[in-house]
Amino acid sequence: MSIRPPCKLTSRPSWIALEEHCASIREQHLRSLFCAEPQRGSQYTVEAAGLYLDYSKNRIDRQTVPLLARLASDCQLRERTDAMFRGDLVNCTERRPALHTALRTPLGHRIVVDGVDVVPDVHAVLGRMAIFSDQVRRGGWTGHTGRPIRNVINIGIGGSDLGPAMAHEALRHYSERALSIRFVSNVDGTDLVEALREIDAVETLFIICSKSFNTSETLANARSARAWIVQQLGDEAAVARHFVAVSVNAGAVTEFGIAMPQMFPLWDWVGGRNSIASAIGLSVMVAIGSPNFLQMLAGMRAMDVHFRSAPIEQNMPALLGMLAIWNTNFLGSAAQAVLPYEQYLRRFPAYLQQLTMESNGKNVTTEGLPVGVATSPIIWGEPGTNGQHSFFQLLHQGTHLVPCDFIGFAQGLNSLGHSSGQADGQHDFLIANMFLQAEAMAFGRTLEELRFEGLNDCAAAHRVLEGNRSSNTLLGNVLTPHSLGVLIALFEHSVFTQVVWDIDSFDQWGVELGKELAQGLFLELRSPSDRDAVHDSSTQALIQRYRSLRRTCAEAAIDSGPS
Ligand code: F6P
Repeated sequence: MSIRPPCKLTSRPSWIALEEHCASIREQHLRSLFCAEPQRGSQYTVEAAGLYLDYSKNRIDRQTVPLLARLASDCQLRERTDAMFRGDLVNCTERRPALHTALRTPLGHRIVVDGVDVVPDVHAVLGRMAIFSDQVRRGGWTGHTGRPIRNVINIGIGGSDLGPAMAHEALRHYSERALSIRFVSNVDGTDLVEALREIDAVETLFIICSKSFNTSETLANARSARAWIVQQLGDEAAVARHFVAVSVNAGAVTEFGIAMPQMFPLWDWVGGRNSIASAIGLSVMVAIGSPNFLQMLAGMRAMDVHFRSAPIEQNMPALLGMLAIWNTNFLGSAAQAVLPYEQYLRRFPAYLQQLTMESNGKNVTTEGLPVGVATSPIIWGEPGTNGQHSFFQLLHQGTHLVPCDFIGFAQGLNSLGHSSGQADGQHDFLIANMFLQAEAMAFGRTLEELRFEGLNDCAAAHRVLEGNRSSNTLLGNVLTPHSLGVLIALFEHSVFTQVVWDIDSFDQWGVELGKELAQGLFLELRSPSDRDAVHDSSTQALIQRYRSLRRTCAEAAIDSGPS
């Protein structure tokens, strides 16, 4: 079935039915919803690819999910999903496919882009990555002086950093500890300078990750790294052994001084925030080895298959995506907290920020018309239990509704006892906290319960937890490359489910402007220019003050003589 021309979302009967439904249940507390359906905790659940989702602590009842499923169906979620997997131009403003799912598609399946089956190409690159990463891990890839590599530094930003940095951190337990893998992204010199501390250039390899090979921050850091290598090793020829590139832009890579055998390609149909399964993940493959990297792809594939085949009401990504729409557009929440109770996933919230907000932080539909409703929630979060000693006060007693996604695993990867003397007791304590925090958010603690404990009304009032705060809990068995892949694909597809808003989830015009303006202003900062008047009075005053401070610093440096 072809994709029908969109119609105004809020005039859809399925949308109106949800509005009416929300009006009928929004005042019901989770305490009463659980009283009405005492077993919902084991019924509002879905299992897929080894993951268990408990979505019972959302402010919903038996009718809500079927109504959300009807809206998704009305918005042709199934057809749009098939179109994405098939390689249609779903990134409509850039007229490109969004085929990150092709990166984990097994050989033998055909996915044709511009008349070419891309699956063999994907596997050819994976094969080159495997050979190279194995060479680095075994000392077969040597630097300019013949020494093996011990330090790998990934230079990239956005999806060329957040994905690999998150996955490297998440899979540190599976990494070759003799290799030091570092990530540099910020154009602030501190990022690269700190990464270069206490390492020897002769055993350092840089992976320049940039799909476009035209991102200012990445090129600035790449050039500085290049200068460092040449200065340290005293020979321009050293670049050839200490740099590889991941990009679609062979011309720019060659111009930088990296030869084609050291370039690992990706394709225009892979978006930056969906690129971890491509050669953008090379640093991760070096860290964990090719078999583990392929296991991560297998986990992604398992969730892909579930997403494509499960009915919406049993479809984990679709449920997460539609429940976020319920919380955002019907209950009125603006933010969403991602709370991994797994320390190795500490960079997962940062990764999800780009995946979600760069995808769905839009305000016009594919037709260029105002969406007319709120779109992407504001994604933030920190690992548990740390968040409990930071922002959980707001989550429990603040005035905002902030739905939470709890993520945990039954097995910990670093077993420590506990004051109770139980083996692996600290992991039990971690997960106990995750469960009880979700319970407290849902059911709170009432004034009556506190009075019963003998507190006067004023003291009790400060201790009341309203509850009725929504959350999902995702529980896996253990964090492995496979289960990380499942999680990544789960959130990729839950973000895609919000195509219900009829936005283009795959472009990012909002950040292109910043790239252009930064280039211009950078040139003006050092000295007065006739362009000063172009800026508003605030920016002009800031530029003047910056120039003055820089002059003062420069004069002070001259007065004090060479350091
Ligand atoms: O943030 C804008 C963006 O284009 C992201 O989508 C992308 O991941 C990042 O910049 C880096 O782009 P590149 O990989 O081309 O350097």
